[in-house]
Amino acid sequence: MVLFDDDKIEFFDDELEEISTPLGYWNILIVDDEKIVHESTKMVLNDFVFQQKRINFLCAYSAAEAKVILKEAKDIAVVLLDVVMEKDNSGLELVKYIRDDLNNQFIRIILRTGQPGQAPEEEVVINYDINDYKMKTELTLQKLLTTIVSALRSYDNIMELENNRKGLERIITIENDLYELRNINIFAQILLQQVLREHPLGPDSFYIRVIHDQERLMYKVIAGTGKYEAFVGDILPMNLFDEVSYLFDAVKQTKTRYHFEDEYISYYKSIDIIENYIYFNGMNALDKNQLSLFEVLISNLSVAVDNIALNDKLIQTQSELINRLSEVIEVRSEETASHVQRVSSIAYMIGKYYGLEEEEAQLLRTVAPLHDVGKIGIPESILNKPGKLTPEEFQLMKEHAMIGYRILRGSGLELLEAGALIAKEHHEYWNGNGYPNGLKGEEIHIYGRITIIADVFDALSHDRVYKKAWPFEEVMAFMVEQRGIMFDPDLIDILLNHESEIKMLYGSE
Ligand code: C2E
Ligand code: SIN
Ligand code: SIN
Ligand code: SIN
Ligand code: FE
Ligand code: FE
Repeated sequence: MVLFDDDKIEFFDDELEEISTPLGYWNILIVDDEKIVHESTKMVLNDFVFQQKRINFLCAYSAAEAKVILKEAKDIAVVLLDVVMEKDNSGLELVKYIRDDLNNQFIRIILRTGQPGQAPEEEVVINYDINDYKMKTELTLQKLLTTIVSALRSYDNIMELENNRKGLERIITIENDLYELRNINIFAQILLQQVLREHPLGPDSFYIRVIHDQERLMYKVIAGTGKYEAFVGDILPMNLFDEVSYLFDAVKQTKTRYHFEDEYISYYKSIDIIENYIYFNGMNALDKNQLSLFEVLISNLSVAVDNIALNDKLIQTQSELINRLSEVIEVRSEETASHVQRVSSIAYMIGKYYGLEEEEAQLLRTVAPLHDVGKIGIPESILNKPGKLTPEEFQLMKEHAMIGYRILRGSGLELLEAGALIAKEHHEYWNGNGYPNGLKGEEIHIYGRITIIADVFDALSHDRVYKKAWPFEEVMAFMVEQRGIMFDPDLIDILLNHESEIKMLYGSE
């Protein structure tokens, strides 16, 4: 049925193959109030195949009918649209409906008018977002075919771009999520999960790091799926996973990425020292687009991996600084290192039972020893006075909270800022009668509310230059008595619910 000019045959050549099993259909909507137009259109396009797909016709005899179909079917490629139907400008109104109301910018609209006087080409093309304008009289069978092919081709390109855009959008979302993560174990695990969820890969994948264990090169399995899941956390010798060792050799040459048949391995060196390898299998299931999106994701990861490594290093540096600062306090106030450790342990424990994330509870544990850093600024004679302080002396002593805050604040370093907060708020009371600012209830940061409990518990449990240690039962009785006065009642309940654990920390040196 389909007729060609010789010069057009070349144009369609590769697309018009004999196809026994079409891969799907192009949906084309015919909107026209004349039955004969529907029939002749279908006749021309009936056996037509473009990119291995046949045509599926949807028919509407008025703009109203077309609206119903357009609302239902989301994947219509082309509309062949009459202008004059129930109204003189029904077709033009439908164009507005498609583009503005349905917000469908993908569908190709070919306007076919029998009365160009009703809709002059120039005016319509300028004012309406259509893709082609044809007079019914000029639209021979041959021309119709050319018009459809070119519309389908551009629809196909648009959809490919759109799918790519969506794919990129998902990748950007994944990357943004990953940037939020600062712990390499969690990062690697979520990375593998996300990649496997977005791509038909797997089941086996791993994220490993090279570590130097007593001069020997070893691998630490940071994350893994499929058959590598069982190795997570293990430190293994160089010949780990013999079956993929050839990939290691290959990627070590190029120090980038290596894709061989069904397998893929990527190498990153973060902050110039830490070597990471990421492995996936099942690569053959990716089509060309998926593969290129996969590569975009993988090649951008090195920045996130660097961030984590830098953050690790920063935390490590800050932790060392904190340990050094706490030591200074211990020496000056004749307290023991174990005091600092106990306050940390109690604070961590309460934080965990309260529901802080592991990372936050660890942060609290690291910085809790800084609470009394401000005692650096308190005269020796007051700090180590064997007896009770006079009111004037105690007034001076209270300054240690703000002194500590001023020492620690303003660095922009997370650990030190948290330390500053704890220094300032570790003597604020739940009822508002604490110092330095008389904050009340939840105005006091959770770190402050936890630290005061850990601090007082420990101060009472041990000898101080000015007092003897109290027995455990008396310490607990005091803590309970101060529930809702000095201390957040919920946190005291946590303490009571875990009394046996607390008791183990009592008196421990
Ligand atoms: P610290 O020794 O680390 O004590 C921390 C907190 O534990 C005290 O905060 C207080 O709330 C509680 N605490 C410690 N010992 C006792 C006690 O015997 N009875 C009661 N009820 N609570 C106790 P506070 O009171 O704000 O004191 C802050 C810091 O001031 C203390 O830190 C300590 O360095 C110093 N300080 C307080 N009172 C005296 C004192 O009588 N003599 C001396 N030399 N220093 C004192
Ligand atoms: C690790 O323990 O996470 C590997 C050591 C490293 O950071 O290279
Ligand atoms: C101050 O520096 O005195 C103000 C600190 C605060 O209350 O946040
Ligand atoms: C929280 O972690 O519960 C919020 C901290 C606060 O109470 O200020
Ligand atoms: Fe203090
Ligand atoms: Fe203290």
